[in-house]
Amino acid sequence: MKKSSVYDCVILPLSKIHNRAGNITVIEGSKNVPFDVKRLYYLYDIPGGEDRGGHAHKELRQLIVAASGSFDVMLDDGINKKVVTLNRPDYGLFVIPGIWRELMEFSSGAICLVLASDIYREEDYLRAYLEYINFKRDETIST
Ligand code: TYD
Repeated sequence: MKKSSVYDCVILPLSKIHNRAGNITVIEGSKNVPFDVKRLYYLYDIPGGEDRGGHAHKELRQLIVAASGSFDVMLDDGINKKVVTLNRPDYGLFVIPGIWRELMEFSSGAICLVLASDIYREEDYLRAYLEYINFKRDETIST
């Protein structure tokens, strides 16, 4: 029975329209990201040494972008872990459902932009690690 894996969370290159006055990156739902974008939010003014995240989602898909600065995303599927450093606004980390994530090591002034496949639904969150591990035990995903 297949379960969602950290190895299916990949870095996606985004567009970059360059001219001498600066760059533009455009993200269109279902075109540059593999889901329809229903929500966008961003984390900013993160005090030094603070971590964010510390949860998983049952169904939500996300693209996480370092719109400014840098930070690490620690991904955990209950078996394997991997740490991805995001530090470029023209690359995004695609995070599939069923993955525990923690965001850490924010640089000063970092902005973490998140595009999400659904509106905010608290019932989609798994906020306790034990609850997450129980969810993974029953999880099956289609291939
Ligand atoms: P949370 O997702 O726990 O933040 P993080 O993973 O970055 O540490 O959200 C923090 C608070 O903000 C929590 O009270 C829920 C609220 N929130 C919304 O109301 N809507 C949203 O779209 C998001 C992402 C969070």
